[in-house]
Amino acid sequence: MKYFIGNWKMFGVPKSINILNKINYFHSKDKNCKKYRIVFTPPYTLIETYAKHFKKKRILIGSQNCYQKEQFSSNTAAVSSYMIRSVGAKYTLVGHSDNRSEGDTDEILKNKVFFALKNKLKVVFCIGENKKQKKNNKTFNVLKKQLTKVLDKKLNMNDIIVAYEPIWSIGSGKIPTKDELKETIIFIKKVLKRISGKNSFKVLYGGSVDGSSVEIFKQIREIDGFLIGGASKSSKKFIDIIKNYYR
Ligand code: PGA
Repeated sequence: MKYFIGNWKMFGVPKSINILNKINYFHSKDKNCKKYRIVFTPPYTLIETYAKHFKKKRILIGSQNCYQKEQFSSNTAAVSSYMIRSVGAKYTLVGHSDNRSEGDTDEILKNKVFFALKNKLKVVFCIGENKKQKKNNKTFNVLKKQLTKVLDKKLNMNDIIVAYEPIWSIGSGKIPTKDELKETIIFIKKVLKRISGKNSFKVLYGGSVDGSSVEIFKQIREIDGFLIGGASKSSKKFIDIIKNYYR
């Protein structure tokens, strides 16, 4: 099963649901539809309406983040996994570089993952190196640390998907080379195996995925799907990614 996950970031109002309706229609007619799953993470404000609307349809709804405490607390503007789950979300991103750069430490992320899983959300755990780390050949060290400091085998690792998103690639149009990316995905899977003792893991790629870059990514069979930012705000661009992937 492949994943196409659209991350809207700070985008969307109620009527933006039209974008998802078109994608849902495409999926319902697509002969390859059994081969992949579509998840969208709109902002908090839209999760409840969208999750209700797509409840019996093909698109699953998730959250872009969740708070590091359980259920309710006196933290202004915080939204817990419990609250997210209660309005119908099935997934949550954790550790997106946007949130890491705003202060999400490994310790905080550990709590976020723990409470998300406890509240029956599937976790898309995001990791990735920055430009400087890449330049200094630190990519593997950084990724290994990001994984081992947060994940451990006591967690339900079956409900965790990892998304590898090199920070320098997000929104920049720059992408890793095919060999580089293949090697990195294999490395991440190796680390995950060591952490969990399990053999199979879903590892997605994110960073400037669009209808043309996917032609390169699809040649790497170890990639289990994509986390898509910019191109997920247009039904045509998102559908093109899927079409080109299976072409
Ligand atoms: P992008 O964003 O597809 O616009 O590069 C990816 C992400 O931040 O998840």
